[in-house]
Amino acid sequence: MMRIIEKAELSKQVQAYRELNYRIGFVPTMGALHFGHLSLVRKSRAENQISIVSIFVNPTQFNDSKDLEKYPRTPEQDLEMLDAEGVDIVFVPDVETIYPDEKRNVFDLDGLDKPMEGKFREGHFDGVADVVYRLFDIVKPDRAYFGEKDYQQLKIIQQMTNVAKLPVEICSGEIVRESDGLAMSSRNMRLSEQERSVAVNIYRIMRDFDPKAFVENPSKAEKMLAEEINQYEHLQTEYVSIVEDDSMQTPENLESDVTYRLCIAVWCGQVRLIDNLTFVISNNY
Ligand code: PAF
Repeated sequence: MMRIIEKAELSKQVQAYRELNYRIGFVPTMGALHFGHLSLVRKSRAENQISIVSIFVNPTQFNDSKDLEKYPRTPEQDLEMLDAEGVDIVFVPDVETIYPDEKRNVFDLDGLDKPMEGKFREGHFDGVADVVYRLFDIVKPDRAYFGEKDYQQLKIIQQMTNVAKLPVEICSGEIVRESDGLAMSSRNMRLSEQERSVAVNIYRIMRDFDPKAFVENPSKAEKMLAEEINQYEHLQTEYVSIVEDDSMQTPENLESDVTYRLCIAVWCGQVRLIDNLTFVISNNY
């Protein structure tokens, strides 16, 4: 039976699980759940004895108060979905529980927070790192699960976990897509019918991209892809970045057998969408 419990009860329960040597899997979310979240829940259920999900729309990671206000909230549906997945515990804290005072934890993010999302959403990753640290401190999971759609976030959480020396294994889940390829996101709910139909071009253009033609000039590819996307009504690219998958550094040239990631943020009307795709240039074909 799934239980929705408060912080004090959660801490007691986690302690009891630890004494039984149960492994705890944790999926932090901001609610408005979709199959991307559920795929993480399924991983957690498969790999741990206990699975805990949090639902908390974290105000400190929104650089734009309108975005926070408009962030979709579907609490009843979320709980039904989690119950159907067999989640053990759901934690739905309020802002005072997570932020009892004005203090904030700041981590050395080793510059990973500077490019891409960091450039356009000032302070966003400081908010993410702090809230995830606070949630880990309460839930004390063995493993925590994050989607690759927020690839830069995944890297930053890994970095925060390393510098804070937390005994949590950070696990990732592949991007889950709609049948036409659009990456699942809670924000997709806010798209009008017309916007939703053009949004499909983002992934189509990414998928059709042939990096072999740009080995000596990846920045030219970034410009070209942005222009291609911007041709569609409602779509306005914020950035297109090709980065080395591990370091997230921008390469001067694309080398064979190195994994790169094409990362993209696009406004679709008033809704900001992100997506990414890995690629390797192989000499074997
Ligand atoms: O990816 C999200 O939903 C949020 O950024 C997270 C990790 C739950 C932190 O608020």
